[in-house]
Amino acid sequence: MKHIEKVGVLGGGLMGSGIAQVSAAAGFPTIIREVSEQLGDKARSAITKMLTKGIERGKVTEAQRDTTLGNLTFTTDLTRLAQCGIVIEAVVEDLALKNDLWKGLNGVCPAETIFASNTSSLTIAAMAAACGRPDKMLGLHFFNPVPLMKLVEVVKTITTSNETADTAFEFVKRLGKEPIRAKDNSGFVVNLLLVPYMIDAINALESNVASVEDIDKGMMLGAGYPMGPFTLLDFVGLDTTYKIAEIMFDEYREKRYAPPPLLKRMVMAGMYGRKSGKGFYDYSEDPPVVTPLGL
Ligand code: CAA
Ligand code: NAD
Repeated sequence: MKHIEKVGVLGGGLMGSGIAQVSAAAGFPTIIREVSEQLGDKARSAITKMLTKGIERGKVTEAQRDTTLGNLTFTTDLTRLAQCGIVIEAVVEDLALKNDLWKGLNGVCPAETIFASNTSSLTIAAMAAACGRPDKMLGLHFFNPVPLMKLVEVVKTITTSNETADTAFEFVKRLGKEPIRAKDNSGFVVNLLLVPYMIDAINALESNVASVEDIDKGMMLGAGYPMGPFTLLDFVGLDTTYKIAEIMFDEYREKRYAPPPLLKRMVMAGMYGRKSGKGFYDYSEDPPVVTPLGL
C-alpha cells in the first residue's frame, strides 16, 4: 500500500471546498485548483465560514481552524499538483471536462499518483480509459456537506488495481470518514436510490399531489429525513441534479432516472438552488420562501 502525504483537489465548489477542508483538517497539505483566483478566494471563504460555524457549535477549536487553513493552498496552475500522492477531482459533472483534466494531469504527476473522481453519476471506467493510468483511477464519492457527512463510496472499476483501492480505502479512514465499497455502476449505491427519490418528488409536485412545503414536511416528519426532497434538491444544486439525472437516464434508459421537464426549465432559468439564491425556495428571504412556479 502506498503512503499518501500530499493531496490535490480539482475544483473548489460545493464539494471540492468540503473535500479540501476535510483533507487539510486531517493533517494533509492540500492544494485546491480552481479556474480563477476569484473562485479560489470563494472556496477559501466557504471553508472559513464552515470552520467558524463549527467553532460556534463547539465542534471545531480555534487551533483546529488555524491548522486546517494553514494546510490549504489555492492555485490556478495545474502543474502545482505535481507532488500530490492523490488528486481528487470535484469539477462540474461533465465527462469531457473531467477527462481533459485527467489527461493534463497524467503528464504532470508521477506515475504512482492516484486519480480519484468524486463524480455522482459517471462511470469510473469512462475516466480510467482516458486518463492514461487506468490502474490508478478510482471513484471516491463524498456527500454534501462533506465536513458533516460521514460516508465515502470507494469505487473500483475493472481496471483499478487492488493496491490503488486499498490505499484509497485507508486514506478515507485517515480523513475520519466511513468508507464503503461500491461497484462501478452509474450512481454507485446512494445515488442509485436517492436520485429516483428526488425525481419522484418533482413529478409529484408537477402532478399536484401536494405543495413544496407539504412534500418536504411529509418526508421529514413522516419518514425521518433530515431535510425534505426540495430542500435537498436546492442543497445539491438543480444544475448538478439535472446533469446527474441525464447521465443516469442515458445509462439505464429507465424512466425513473429521467430528468423531469420542470427541473430542466428551472435550470434554463438559472434557478440552481441555494448556490444561485433561488430554486424551489427563494433564499433572498430569511427564512427562505417557496418560489412561485405557476403550477
Ligand atoms: N462544523 C462542524 N460540525 C458542525 C457544523 C460545522 N460547521 N455545523 C453543524 N455541525 C454539527 C452539529 O453540531 C451536529 O453535531 P451533533 O450531531 O454531534 O450534535 C451535526 O453537525 C448536525 O448538525 P445540525 O443537525 O444542527 O445541522 P444542520 O441542521 O445545519 O444540517 C445536515 C445538518 C447534515 C446538513 C442535515 O440536514 C442532513 O443530513 N441533510 C441531508 C444531507 C444529505 O442528504 N446529503 C446528501 C446529498 S446527495 C450527495 O451528496 C450525493 C450526490 O452525488 C448528489
Ligand atoms: P459546483 O458547481 O459547486 O463546483 C464545481 C467547481 O468546479 C466550480 O467551482 C468550477 O469553477 C470548478 N471547475 C470547473 N472547471 C474546472 C477546472 N478545469 N479546474 C478546476 N476547477 C474547475 O459543483 P459540485 O456540487 O461541487 O460538484 C462537483 C462534482 O461533485 C460533480 O461531479 C458532482 O456530480 C459531484 N457531487 C456533487 C454533490 C452535490 O451534492 N452537489 C455531491 C456529491 C458529488
